[in-house]
Amino acid sequence: MVQSAPETTLNRLDDAVRYVRERWPHTPTLGVIAGSGLGLLGDLATESVRMPYGTIPHMPTPSVVGHSGELVVGTLAGLRVAILSGRVHHYEGWPMGDVVFGARLLARLGCESVVLTNAAGGIHPWLLPGSLCRIVDHLNLMGANPLGGPNVEGLGPRFPDMSAVYDRVLGDRLDRAAAARGVVLGRGVYAAMSGPSYETPAEIRMLRVLGADLVGMSTVPEAIALRHMGVRVGGISVVSNHAAGVSAELLSHDDVKHVALDAGPRLVAVLEALARALAEEPLAGAVR
Ligand code: HPA
Repeated sequence: MVQSAPETTLNRLDDAVRYVRERWPHTPTLGVIAGSGLGLLGDLATESVRMPYGTIPHMPTPSVVGHSGELVVGTLAGLRVAILSGRVHHYEGWPMGDVVFGARLLARLGCESVVLTNAAGGIHPWLLPGSLCRIVDHLNLMGANPLGGPNVEGLGPRFPDMSAVYDRVLGDRLDRAAAARGVVLGRGVYAAMSGPSYETPAEIRMLRVLGADLVGMSTVPEAIALRHMGVRVGGISVVSNHAAGVSAELLSHDDVKHVALDAGPRLVAVLEALARALAEEPLAGAVR
C-alpha cells in the first residue's frame, strides 16, 4: 500500500487550502462532488472562481473521458458552495489517499455537508435508467479503505463509526428539495466495486443477495473519508443503466455517460433547491 505519512497528508491539504483561500477568501457551507455529466452545476454558481485541478497543489487530475477536473467555488442560491467537478478513481491506479484528496479538501475548506454524486448501475429492477436514487447506506467491496495505514489524527479517529454514514438530516433535506422541484428520488444501498470492468450477471446476483440496490466504482472512499472528518454526507446516484444481467442490454461507457448527462438537469435542480433551503434554514453544526 502506498501511504503518505500523516504529517504529509495534512501539509498537502494545508497547501491546497491556502491556494484556494488566496483566490476565494470565504468558507463554503456545502460541498458537492459531481460525477460525470454534472459540470453544469458549477455554471449556476455566481461570483464564482474556477480552479482547474492541475493548478491546485497536490490535487490529482482525472484521466477518464467525460470527467473534467475543476473546482468551482461561489454562491449558489444564496449559499457559499464548493463544487468539485470530476474525480479520480482507484481503478485508474490512484492510491486511496489521492482518491479522497478532493473530499478532504472540501472538509478542510469548512464544508459542513458534502453531497456525493455518481452514475451507478441499477440492481433493483425498478431502478430504471435515468432515475435518481438517494444513497442511504453502502457496501465497501473495493478491497481497500481510504483510512488504511497510519491514522491521520488531525483528520479523525482511528476507528470511526460508520453506522450512519449518510446523514439522515441532510437526507431529509435532499428528499424535500427533490419534492420541491417535482423530482422523484428513490432510496438505495450502494455497493462499491473496484472496477474498471463492469460486473458479471453472477456478481450482480450476489450483490442483490447482499442487499445492494445500486453498483458503482466511486463515492464510498470519499464518504468514508468525510465521515472520518465529521462532515455530514449525502449521496445521490443517477441510475445510468440496468446492472449486468438485470436486462438483456450490454453495458457501454458511452450509454452510461449519455444517460447521466440526460439526468443532469434534474440532479442540478435538486442540488440548487438544497442550497436554497440550507441558506434559509442552516443545519445545526456538523455531527462529529
Ligand atoms: N457497474 C459499475 N459501475 C457503474 C455501472 C455499473 O453497472 N454503471 C455506472 N457505473
